[in-house]
Amino acid sequence: MKVLLVGGGGREHALAVKVAASARVSALICAPGNAGTALLGENVPVAAEDINGLLALARERQVDLTIVGPEAPLCAGIVDRFEQAGLRIFGPTAAAARIEGDKAYAKDLMRAAGVPTASARIFHRFRDAREYTLTRDCALVVKAAGLAAGKGVIVCDEPAQAVLALERIMEDRIFGDAGDTVLVEERLEGPELSVLALVDGRTIYVLDSAQDHKPIGEGDTGPNTGGMGAYSPTAIAGDKVMNVIQGDVLVPMIDVLQRDGNPYRGVLYAGLMLTPAGPKVLEFNCRFGDPETQAILPRLQSDLIEAMEAVLDGRLDEIELRWDPRPAVCVVMAAGGYPGSYEKGKVITGLAEAGALPDVTVFHAGTKTVGDQIVTAGGRVLGVTALGETVRAARDRAYEAVDRIRFEDAYCRRDIALRAV
Ligand code: AMP
Ligand code: GLY
Repeated sequence: MKVLLVGGGGREHALAVKVAASARVSALICAPGNAGTALLGENVPVAAEDINGLLALARERQVDLTIVGPEAPLCAGIVDRFEQAGLRIFGPTAAAARIEGDKAYAKDLMRAAGVPTASARIFHRFRDAREYTLTRDCALVVKAAGLAAGKGVIVCDEPAQAVLALERIMEDRIFGDAGDTVLVEERLEGPELSVLALVDGRTIYVLDSAQDHKPIGEGDTGPNTGGMGAYSPTAIAGDKVMNVIQGDVLVPMIDVLQRDGNPYRGVLYAGLMLTPAGPKVLEFNCRFGDPETQAILPRLQSDLIEAMEAVLDGRLDEIELRWDPRPAVCVVMAAGGYPGSYEKGKVITGLAEAGALPDVTVFHAGTKTVGDQIVTAGGRVLGVTALGETVRAARDRAYEAVDRIRFEDAYCRRDIALRAV
């Protein structure tokens, strides 16, 4: 079959590796892809948000299955449009993807379903949000309700700081329309966990947990990023915790969506905090996580396409996936300055040497090919993943690979997965 993969980040390169490895796949097209996916299939310069362009591409190339990586096209209704056109596509409809695209809706749904989550108030007007915030005397988190590329959350130590965050989001509109509605949320404490599950409308297949590292700085300091590294599985989520998450979080969310006439199909991602009072949801995403996917998929030994087809056909209950028991650690190499402004076009060297190390895969994110060179083309440039017998071994191997790769002003956190060692 012919597969179209939408997106061009590290997550998509990790997906592309598994798609290309499937015995069922004869051709892979990536739109727009990156220098890594170009080695596995054909990159076509259609943007991930250009739904008309993607639809035309899928028809023209007679694509059999489209897989969507990023949230923007999902929230904009790419799945609805493809299905109306009679095309097979992996991901939730716009109505179901709203669990990510509208944090106020997600919060209401969690309340309706009794899912444990941080308590929050929802505001549409700055002065109401400000007034409420000034009556609080605890640490708060201010969130833009709409999509903001993973950067729409400002964690604050005190209400005065939260008022500044509200001002930036609602008055200065730093996230544009995404900040029309905000959530002012209680700040929770505890380790964070990403739990991804395949969902076919009713059956849930929970993947091994992963832990992301959101802040730019070592020791979790500085502003949040899209994610600076991940490892999987995590020791903090044993069977007991994972059962609680499945029973108290995933199942009720799938049920309430189904009841509302929006059956969920695709990957459901719960971002959680393991608080002293139990796991609580910080957010839902409607897709594979990035970089989590770069630490989860290298462990998958079964055919990803077969799993996705089971999701589409509603027979997830019939499949069993095989996994490499060894942990994986992914270290993100970013452009200096990210998540603020950064330069592009820096030549990257050492990719082959790094990728030649045993059990190492260098996933491309913001890269592109120029002539016979590979250059940086984004903030998160590479995801360097290694498998190892232990987290420590995987981590050492990943950094050994990182140290073979060079580009000007390259930055990575040196403490990815350190707390798991
Ligand atoms: P989100 O995009 O909602 O997952 O938020 C991004 C990051 O902000 C999370 O990964 C957490 O590190 C942090 N965060 C979000 N909500 C809370 C909260 N209620 N309490 C503490 N930290 C939070
Ligand atoms: N790693 C965070 C996300 O994918 O949203």
